[in-house]
Formats: sequence, structure tokens, C-alpha cells
Amino acid sequence: MDQYAVMGNPVSHSKSPQIHAAFAAQTGQAMSYRAIPVADGDFERAVQDFFAKGGKGLNITVPFKQQAWALARKHSPEAARAGAVNTLLFEDGVLSGHNTDGIGLVRDIIANHQGRIADKRLLILGAGGAARGILLPLLSEHPQRITLANRTPARALCLVQEFSDYEGLSACGFDALPGMVFDWVINATAASLQGDLPPLPEGLLSSHAWCYDLMYAQQQTVFCRWATQAGAEQSLDGLGMLVEQAAEAFYLWRGTRPETAPVIASLRASQQ
Ligand code: ATR
Repeated sequence: MDQYAVMGNPVSHSKSPQIHAAFAAQTGQAMSYRAIPVADGDFERAVQDFFAKGGKGLNITVPFKQQAWALARKHSPEAARAGAVNTLLFEDGVLSGHNTDGIGLVRDIIANHQGRIADKRLLILGAGGAARGILLPLLSEHPQRITLANRTPARALCLVQEFSDYEGLSACGFDALPGMVFDWVINATAASLQGDLPPLPEGLLSSHAWCYDLMYAQQQTVFCRWATQAGAEQSLDGLGMLVEQAAEAFYLWRGTRPETAPVIASLRASQQ
């Protein structure tokens, strides 16, 4: 049976084995998918060992996405831009790195929620790996502009400079946000992990604004709670993105696209 896995640290909480098992059952693919915890410093050996033993494909999660990028000999455009890889496979005998996170986000917004990014004013909170991974797929949808706001403004500025071939992208600190208005606020900070919220001023949302937290949790995230209170028309968490990025990886590996809606629904139900 073809072997797949997710590598990370920690990885025991990962929903990916459950998601890929559901995709495999649904599409009738004979494959297994497990979670492999990898110690810091052992990533390269673990990847080589996995493929040497006939493994077919890997998902990579925190904290190894940059190392996976460095290991890959070929990159998809999204992975090349992100400097981070969440999906590895051999293509034409070469270890290839893809990044399906941003594609997953865009598909969740557009296909699952009938949201619109084109011509909209987007605010992305954060300038770390998560923000980096979603920029190219979001820019490809032709928003009117994207503002990156980060606790450390210099980091947001660096990221924006890497995308200087795109118009309408700018960087600032949170203190510059008062007075600005957005149609979308996307939380790509790690603040939710600590139950924290970046300082967001009143009046940030336009009248039909949507908000998206790349994080998801059993309980509504602090950011989603803020969004609802601030009057967002929609306040979405990252569960749909998680399933959509997995579907994109599954498609790269197996050449068949699973139905995501039933998997999202069953994960959502198991959270209640
Ligand atoms: P990830 O890969 O999850 O993006 P990262 O590269 O460590 O992780 O980046 C974390 C992001 O969350 C950064 O933008 C970080 O801001 P700084 O660049 O200023 O460190 C942001 N972040 C983390 N904790 C935060 C908090 N409590 N409030 C606001 N921003 C926070």
C-alpha cells in the first residue's frame, strides 16, 4: 500500500491522518497516512529515510516548512515565493516541494463560502511563515490592495519588498491602523495560539467585511470573537483551509480531487 505521512513537532494533534483517511475512503485509493513526530535536527534524515523506504509523499508542518523548502530540488511557484513547503513528492525523479496552504485558503473562501477577493481591500495581520504562505495565492485573485500589519513592522516591510513586482502591497505596524478601512481582515499571527489578539482599532471593518482566522480551535478563536463583535458579515476559522490544503496535496499525490464538503462537515460535527 502506498505510504504517506505528515512530519512535524508536535504532530500528535494533527487532523491530517483523519482527513486523508476520509479522502482515501471516498475516492477508493489504497494508501496509508500517518503522523511522524520528528526531533529538531533530525528532519533531513527522517525525510530521506521515509522516501528510501518507498514512501510516496509527505506533508510538512511546524517547524519544518522552511527546511523542507531547502531540501526540495524543485518548487511550485507558490512554494518558491513562500520559501516554505508543506507537501513533498517525487516528480520525474526529483524531490519536489509545493505549498498548498494559500491555495487552500483561497479555495475555502471562494468555493466553499462564495466569498470575493477581487477588487477588495485586504488586511493581513502577521508577517511570519503563515502570512508568507498565503500572499501569492491571494495576490493572484487581484485584490484592490493588501496591507500587511505586523507587531514588528520591519518584518512586514521585508516581506512586502520580496513582492515588489506586485502593485498595491504595503506594510505597517498596528499603530498605523486607526483610520484605515478593510473589506477583509485575515489573521495570520500566532497570537491566537496564546489566546491573544493584536491591538485592532474600532472602525477597521467596512460594512460587509469578512474576517478569516488561519487558526482553528474547538472553541471560537479570540480573533473570530473580535470579528463578530466588530460587526463582520462573516467570521471564518481555518478548518476549511486545513481540509482544502489537504485536498490539494491529495490531488498532487493521487491525481484525483476528493470532495471536501463532507470532510469539513464531519470534522466540524466532531468538534461540537
Ligand atoms: P508562523 O509560521 O505561524 O507565521 P512565525 O513565523 O513565528 O510563525 O510568525 C508569527 C507571527 O505572529 C509574526 O507575525 C508575529 O509577530 P512578530 O513578527 O512581531 O513576532 C506574530 N505574533 C505572534 N504572537 C503575537 C502576539 N501576541 N501579538 C501580535 N502578533 C503576534
